[in-house]
Amino acid sequence: MEKKEEFREFLRQENLRVNLISRRSFDRTFFYLWEISSEILRALEPFSSLVDVGSGGGFPGLAIKLMAPEKRIVLVEPRKKKADFLRRAVERFSLENVEVVEGDFFLFHKIYCHSSFDYLTAMGIKRKESFIREDCQYIKKGYCFVTGESEVKRLLSHGKVKKYNTEVRKISGRDKIFLVIIRKWEKS
Ligand SMILES: C[S@@+](CC[C@H](N)C(=O)[O-])C[C@H]1O[C@@H](n2cnc3c(N)ncnc32)[C@H](O)[C@@H]1O
Repeated sequence: MEKKEEFREFLRQENLRVNLISRRSFDRTFFYLWEISSEILRALEPFSSLVDVGSGGGFPGLAIKLMAPEKRIVLVEPRKKKADFLRRAVERFSLENVEVVEGDFFLFHKIYCHSSFDYLTAMGIKRKESFIREDCQYIKKGYCFVTGESEVKRLLSHGKVKKYNTEVRKISGRDKIFLVIIRKWEKS
C-alpha cells in the first residue's frame, strides 16, 4: 500500500480516540490536508530540514516526512494526546531523523535556539508572525504559513514580514486559503 493510504488508515483509527481532524468529513479533510502538505513540499524545495509548529494531526510536518523521508523534521505540539499520536506515527512508519517536541513554540525556541533549520511551517494557528524571531537566527531560508485571506493581508503588512521577499500562492481548488512563503533573503 502506498504511504498516503497507509497513513490515511492509521489516522482514521487514531482519530477515533484523539480528535485530530474532522471525523464527519474525514476523507475529504485528509485529502485536502495531504494535498496542501504536498504543495508546501514542492514550493519549498530544495531544503533539507524544517520545523512544523502546531502539527496536530500531522499536517503539514508529518505528511511531508512521509513524502520525503530524507528530510529532518521537528514536530512541535503542546497537547499531550496529539504529541502521543505523533510519536506513535513516528514509530508505526519507522521514521528516522524526526523529533516530536511536546510543548509550544516557546519551548521549541528555547531548546533549538542554537540549532539550524531551513524552514518553519505553521497551519491552523493564529498570530503566526510570533514564530518569526529575530533574536535567534535558526531559521535559515524562511517561513511557510497556510492561512486565510484576511490573515494574508495582516501578515504582509507586518513589520517583521515586510523586509523579506514574500510570495502568496493560491491553494488549488480553494478560493480563500493561501500559502504565504516568506523567503529570508532581504530586499535590496
Ligand atoms: C487547528 S490545529 C491545526 C493542526 C494542523 N497544523 C492542521 O492544520 O491540521 C492547531 C494546533 O496547533 C497547536 N498549537 C496552538 N498554539 C501553539 C503554539 N503556540 N505552539 C505550538 N503549537 C500550538 C494546537 O495544540 C493544535 O494542535
